[in-house]
Amino acid sequence: MKLSRILSNRNGVSRRQANFLIASGRVAVNGVTCRNPATEVDRFSSVHVDNKILQTAEPCHYLMLHKPAGFLSATLDDTHRTVMELIAPDLRADLHIAGRLDRASTGLLVLTNDGRWSRQLTEPRIKIPKVYRVSTAHPISPETTHRFAEGIWFEFEQLKTSPAQLDLLGPTEARLTIYEGRYHQVKRMFHAVGNRVTALHRERMGSITLDEKLAEGEYRPLTPEEIRLTSDGTETESSNLATLP
Ligand code: URA
Repeated sequence: MKLSRILSNRNGVSRRQANFLIASGRVAVNGVTCRNPATEVDRFSSVHVDNKILQTAEPCHYLMLHKPAGFLSATLDDTHRTVMELIAPDLRADLHIAGRLDRASTGLLVLTNDGRWSRQLTEPRIKIPKVYRVSTAHPISPETTHRFAEGIWFEFEQLKTSPAQLDLLGPTEARLTIYEGRYHQVKRMFHAVGNRVTALHRERMGSITLDEKLAEGEYRPLTPEEIRLTSDGTETESSNLATLP
């Protein structure tokens, strides 16, 4: 919400009065004077007017969970256990999942209450690499690597997947890097080349690699470096957030 709107909504002052207060340097966002009424302020920022608190910053939560098989990537379900049941009840209420995994899939699952941040991980056009370890029912044919690199046509969405990188680890084992997170994407890609995924484990999303110290079902907060979300897993100060509208 725009800063001027926060002032007028919460204080009963007119938009004009709000703009005046802001322009006079009497308003601070996260402790820093802000003179631009159009500044976007989210619920994770504090707002003070003349040192009086107008909005308290809500805490952000960024978690990585080692998802076990058998848990649904959903907040609520009548039939199956959900990944939320693995999270402490006091954290659960506000969280959503940044990039689901199928019920049978295992590995890295990211949960947060920061929707703007999680969009960076899940927006196909931002091209954050997602790395999977895949087991297949049949030997992976040599042309699979080329087919995935060229992109696979998805009839339903009427699009070609972004070039993906397949590294063979054995006749029926591979590491696959994709740059989107479309519905059942990995299974559908293998299906398109006449194969079938029998096990799927997510190892990494951008700068976030599943912590090997986490046993299945365990989770921990992300580190500041992991929250920065680089596309190649290296540390950087820049954020893809700038690319969002
Ligand atoms: N692609 C799939 O098909 N399943 C997953 O769980 C993740 C990616």
